[in-house]
Amino acid sequence: MLKTIGVKSMDELIDQTVPKNIRLEKPLDLGPGLSERQYYRKIHDLAQKNKVFNTYIGMGYYDVITPAVVLRNVFENPVWYTSYTPYQAEISQGRLEALLNYQTMVCDFTCMELANASLLDEATAAAEAMIMMFSLRSRDQKKNGANVLLVDEKIWPQTLDVVLTRAEPLGIEVKVDNYKNFGFNDKVFGVIVQYPNSDGNIEDYSALVETAHKNECKVAVAADLLSLTLLVPPGEWGADICFGSSQRFGVPMGYGGPHAAFFATKDEYKRSMPGRIIGLSKDANGNRALRMALQTREQHIKREKATSNICTAQALLATMAGFYAVYHGPRGIYSIAARIHSIANLLSEEIEKLGYNQQNEFFFDTVRFSLPRHVKREDIEWLSLELKMNFRYFDNGEVGLSIDETTNVEDINWIVEVFAKAANKPVPTFSDYPEECLINEKFARKSEYLKLDVFNRYRSETEMMRYIKKLENRDISLTHSMISLGSCTMKLNAATEMLPLSWIEFSGIHPYVPKNQAMGYQIMMEELKSDLAQITGFADVSLMPNSGAAGEYAGLMVIMAYHKSRGDEHRKVCLIPSSAHGTNPASAAMAGMEVVVTPCDERGNIDVEALKQKAEEHKDDLACLMITYPSTHGVFEASVTEVCKIIHQFGGQVYMDGANMNAQVGLTSPGNIGADICHLNLHKTFAIPHGGGGPGVGPIACKDHLVEFLPSHSVMNNGHVGIHAVSAAPWGSASVLPITYGYIKMLGGDGLRKATEVAILNANYIAHHLKDNYGILYTGENGRVAHEMILEARHLKQASGITETDISKRLMDYGFHAPTLSFPVHGTLMVEPTESESLQELDRFIETMNSIFNEIKEVETGVADKDDNVLKNAPHTQFMCVDDEWNHSYARSKAAYPLAWIRENKFWPYVTRIDDAYGDRNLVCTCAPVEDYK
Ligand SMILES: Cc1ncc(COP(=O)(O)O)c(C=O)c1O
Repeated sequence: MLKTIGVKSMDELIDQTVPKNIRLEKPLDLGPGLSERQYYRKIHDLAQKNKVFNTYIGMGYYDVITPAVVLRNVFENPVWYTSYTPYQAEISQGRLEALLNYQTMVCDFTCMELANASLLDEATAAAEAMIMMFSLRSRDQKKNGANVLLVDEKIWPQTLDVVLTRAEPLGIEVKVDNYKNFGFNDKVFGVIVQYPNSDGNIEDYSALVETAHKNECKVAVAADLLSLTLLVPPGEWGADICFGSSQRFGVPMGYGGPHAAFFATKDEYKRSMPGRIIGLSKDANGNRALRMALQTREQHIKREKATSNICTAQALLATMAGFYAVYHGPRGIYSIAARIHSIANLLSEEIEKLGYNQQNEFFFDTVRFSLPRHVKREDIEWLSLELKMNFRYFDNGEVGLSIDETTNVEDINWIVEVFAKAANKPVPTFSDYPEECLINEKFARKSEYLKLDVFNRYRSETEMMRYIKKLENRDISLTHSMISLGSCTMKLNAATEMLPLSWIEFSGIHPYVPKNQAMGYQIMMEELKSDLAQITGFADVSLMPNSGAAGEYAGLMVIMAYHKSRGDEHRKVCLIPSSAHGTNPASAAMAGMEVVVTPCDERGNIDVEALKQKAEEHKDDLACLMITYPSTHGVFEASVTEVCKIIHQFGGQVYMDGANMNAQVGLTSPGNIGADICHLNLHKTFAIPHGGGGPGVGPIACKDHLVEFLPSHSVMNNGHVGIHAVSAAPWGSASVLPITYGYIKMLGGDGLRKATEVAILNANYIAHHLKDNYGILYTGENGRVAHEMILEARHLKQASGITETDISKRLMDYGFHAPTLSFPVHGTLMVEPTESESLQELDRFIETMNSIFNEIKEVETGVADKDDNVLKNAPHTQFMCVDDEWNHSYARSKAAYPLAWIRENKFWPYVTRIDDAYGDRNLVCTCAPVEDYK
């Protein structure tokens, strides 16, 4: 490969590609890479240091039973976990249907009209609800400067924490009080309450909703999705937004995440809803087809005008939650919830008999006891720990228990034993509990849910396994072929890295257990933070943000806190090059910054002179520059150190978007280049899979002077004392961190550098083979690309009428997922092969791209019809190709098998080209009976 691209050695290529002045002086000191077997032993030893207790802490995290059929066929199945966000809908129909099931389930349980396909966690969903209500203010409210959000004091502390973080930069005043004392006036725009509340008590909020609506205020309700099977859902008592966590639907606690937050609202607010929404549409043949709806709301188009920066969310976890509902169906879910309530009720009665006072008048799963005078809280604590149980301890000395679907008779006996022994009473025993116990009439749900066929059909494991397989077969993932999405880094998610995720020692830990029960996690995370600090060239790392965009936001908030601490709160200008990813300006706006765009020159590099001018112009109010390196144009700009100096000279900080770290690791680093803070996308560079659109992990790393501002947590000491939390969980999505840990440990310092070098080699190899036909838009000073490249398609469109979209759809007929389309330059394709692809696979991709080029030439020269050709009609489904009628001007074999090797392993897209506009005009975002949209 080196010979092909005209260099003698890897070193020569790297010298030609990465500017000398930013290269690391010393190799990474991370030790040699472990073999897979050595690593397995190491991570297994760490796992043994986590102690799996029965945990009744609740507070948004509950033990679950993941149905084995879902665990094995979805969570542990690379088709589901290695696929990308379904932008290419024609080859994503399986996961789109799974997410539609999830949305339908959320709508059914909440009784709201529209749900999205997940947000990052319950706390960020609360913040999104606040911002949505803020942006929905009436004209008068906006004129009056209505900026007060009323929040009931009984919401999870972590939810309040994140709401406070997000409120401050937007000038929103959060007033926390008992909801019964809420005072409405023309400054109030919204309300957030929790149902059941953080004590576990079920409150009747209907009068509050009425008053709020009379005062033109919107009401958002944080709800426990499982409880809504038994309780009157918020949609029936007038809530405008309902959100929460779907973790209880079969997703393990995993020391805090990842879990999918749900978010639902009324149809009238659909255009203000954050996140991705899956909707129905039809394909070119009129068949039902799914795709992401209302994409015009995305940050790429709205940029700093976007009201949310959410990009990667929690697709895989939402998929699992949806499958949990499909598998259990309405009766199964009802009986799980009813059993939980029944056990909570039994415990309430039995523990009261021992002299304790149960405080919750109406409850679903949570009971809260005040202790008799002679009982010490400490006694309850040590007795429960002796029996390997964790209870919840309130500040006023009361003790709480939240029951979950795993609680059984044995557990009931142990729990009661603790309370009896602490009170010096004989220990009663139980051999059973009532299967069902009715909820108080006032709160009891009457309406039905999950009535559709999909939730009532797959009652046996055999049927369920086949349903999952049926959907799986409709999707392209890394199990099929390389996914060359530029900027997204679709690299191998190695099996050895993934294995520990299913172990109960990682999955079965509640985030609020005493740290001595999670020493395996703590040791791993400390080591990981130190490794990432070294890799980035920074002093410390926060693992909290749950996505790249969440990392951007957190990093910018850290910068703002730094300026504030120096009396520079007026420094609000954020310079962003025109080539930046859409989440950059959206995050800056959310952090309360003013975005100033700086231009790029004709080579795609930052225009340094223009940047200098802007920086000088804003020298009194410059907060920072956001920069992606190597640039989104796929080039290592030599001017980067100078750019950093200019920003520092004018008092700003340099924020580096870590999306392209795959080209830096071991060769250079953000710290070495001169940045102050960066985020990493562990779901790109560090091997966490994309899960069809999440989970992601976006840790931030920073220099010494910013460490004191890294995000803290209101419940657990996560080692940082800075800004309020940016995620619900103290260490973010902790349970997927073993993937990154394994990636680093198994590659070691040298392996990490080599991975970067091979990624650069692979990109230059492809560029070499495609440059003549397509043209490479930008290269560095020596004609090299970094780890990705932008292929030109605009000249082809001009000559033939074939667009970049046609190319992306035709790639499906060849069994490939398209590269990144029209980002960062419209009309182009951005290709990133990563280090994981073999020469064989690169050659297959190159042959495909050149074959497509020849097909375009056929159109251009008139050999193929201008409208009826293999590109315009792509992708071709099996139904089209075996139809008795074939009215096209080319052969079926050309449509389906344009190259000989495709016959060996053909992937059939399930639908042909999808009509996006139709779906947006006729928005349907829940499963509906098929006849409704034929
Ligand atoms: C350059 C860049 N920045 C930021 C992001 C946002 O990351 P995430 O999707 O994890 O929020 C992306 C995602 O594609 C990206 O390519």
